[in-house]
Amino acid sequence: MESRVEQSEDLDTRALSLLQAMTLDEKLSLLAGGSLFKTKGIPRLSLKPMKLSDGPRGIGFHSALRRATAFPTGIALGASWDPDLAREFGEALAREARSVGAQVVLGPAVNICRTPLNGRTFEYFTEDPELNSRLAVAVIEGIQSTGVSACVKHYAANNQETHRMKSSSQVSERALREIYLPVFEAAVREAGVWSVMAAYNAVNGVAACENKTLLSDILRREYGFTGFVVSDWFAVRRTGSGANCLEAGLNLEMPGKGSRYRQSRLKREYEAGAFTEQALDESLRQLLRVWLRTSPDAGNPPGERNTPKHQQLARRMAEQGITLLKNESDLLPLDRQRVRRLAVLGQRAGKRNCLPLYGGSAGVWSPYEITPIEGIRQLLGNDCEIVTDPRGADAAVVIVGLGHRVGGDFEGRDRTDMDLPAEQQALIRTTAAQNPNTIVVLVSGSPLAMPWAQDVPAIVMAWYPGMEGGTAIAGVLFGDVNPGGKLPVTFPAALSDSPAHSDTRRFPGNEDAVHYEEDVFVGYRHFDREQIEPLFPFGHGLSYTHFDYRDLEIAGDDWRGDGTLCLSFHLSNTGVRDGSEVVQLYVACCVPSLPRPVRELKGFKKVFLRAGESCTVTFELAARALAYFCPEDLRWKVDNGEYELAVAASSRDVRLQSRVTYAV
Ligand code: GLC
Repeated sequence: MESRVEQSEDLDTRALSLLQAMTLDEKLSLLAGGSLFKTKGIPRLSLKPMKLSDGPRGIGFHSALRRATAFPTGIALGASWDPDLAREFGEALAREARSVGAQVVLGPAVNICRTPLNGRTFEYFTEDPELNSRLAVAVIEGIQSTGVSACVKHYAANNQETHRMKSSSQVSERALREIYLPVFEAAVREAGVWSVMAAYNAVNGVAACENKTLLSDILRREYGFTGFVVSDWFAVRRTGSGANCLEAGLNLEMPGKGSRYRQSRLKREYEAGAFTEQALDESLRQLLRVWLRTSPDAGNPPGERNTPKHQQLARRMAEQGITLLKNESDLLPLDRQRVRRLAVLGQRAGKRNCLPLYGGSAGVWSPYEITPIEGIRQLLGNDCEIVTDPRGADAAVVIVGLGHRVGGDFEGRDRTDMDLPAEQQALIRTTAAQNPNTIVVLVSGSPLAMPWAQDVPAIVMAWYPGMEGGTAIAGVLFGDVNPGGKLPVTFPAALSDSPAHSDTRRFPGNEDAVHYEEDVFVGYRHFDREQIEPLFPFGHGLSYTHFDYRDLEIAGDDWRGDGTLCLSFHLSNTGVRDGSEVVQLYVACCVPSLPRPVRELKGFKKVFLRAGESCTVTFELAARALAYFCPEDLRWKVDNGEYELAVAASSRDVRLQSRVTYAV
């Protein structure tokens, strides 16, 4: 998809004619917002303010003062590994935005999950750049298919909350290019994203909102971005000048009034010759083209909010994201005919998560929310007695998790550890001691330590499943839904195993710098290289059925130049239930010319098969899948030589593998 805001002549013409009609003061007035979630307007020219609205999991009450559909959070979409579902979500989110008059929706949130402790892990998709890019592109395409602008955020290397307003992410060029920037490259080059949000932090010493390398050299000149860059809210630092930000490529400072883009201040800088009207015009042209393209008068589809269609989508997303981590002796799914007494307990069983500012700016206030206990009650009706005492019950479901309290899964603050609250851990242990059929359901948004994992036969990661989450959880527990989620992030056995936690320079760093010294070895890339056993590996997720992988075939065993490589294999559902399997394709250079991950995800497909059904799965790999970013030459390179292709059910469960030789 063209990475340009619709190349229609009309847009350019209209933007230019607006600019020609504007006075200098009117132009200067548009660089900073007019209120918390709106730009200014120019009534004289019938240019109405443009509204922007959070957020990445639904329309935020704080930005629209309306209740809206609360979809599952980003990490749940990450666990779905389903770009088609992501695209459908993007379109629904945009229609909800349009219904509150928003022309820009501030999402998707796509920062790489570098540390398990990031307070915003729940908002993001994954630790892996390939999975990140596929999902982000799909969401953006869905959003922009309706004439609303996505705003991919937070550009770039904003991977923790601690010190976010002051610190600098010190990242090597190679790690930037291989891990942190690919999602933004894909957002521009593949999805044609119309706006980008610049982050709070600095990158390699230069604040993101005035980082010319990031905003102009890479985003615009290299990737071909033609939309506008908006600052995160209050993110423009008081150190630089307006001219600096303009020169770097920041088009809009939010929210209202602005600090660097305060009109009076800009006027003084302009009169002092700090920037030209031509530079001002070019910046405004980039902003106005999206402003006009997304205008309610531009013939865009109408909005809709809180519709049954969106609520059913929210449920499907929850079902597709729920990840079955453990299921000893196939305890799950529970048999509705045989379970006559069910114990349901735990601090999160009856709690809502879809309330204003829950989690921070991603918070959505939904018109209703099916909590886990309500979902279970609705499913079981009067067929089963629901109690809170595990003793003597046929099974016991303990529903726990961090919730959106500060210090939990919440913006602005990182967690201090991976632990569940002590009282929740105690409840799990007590319940497990009282009932052998104890199932732990985690309603949470980031990796958790589970010292109790060996005490329970079944563990379900439900993430923050949105307003229909209780329905989805109950469906999985009783088998109406066969869980197909796979972990989009590694769950470490211990925090010290995580690459960002070998020393405090890496996390939390300090107000000056956070050092990304693990370089490209983020997430499973680190665990594989150091041969550390995770609690649960990246890509892990069980099913109520079983899948067989066989007959890997590679079309042509030598791969040259820019040619693509085709490979296929046979997948069968050998169980008795229909289900989906996320098949993953990992690539490894057998004799790398510099340190490289043991294997890297370069393709995946979510395949649904009925019980007993089989199919042939095919992958096409481009040479870029073999490439690394050469720090010396500052360009992508592919080494000649042998590569291993692994088809897997998780990063630690390789089912088929083969080798190919590549020559430039
Ligand atoms: C916040 C967040 C950003 C959000 C913005 C507006 O601080 O970092 O994701 O879109 O402000 O609420």
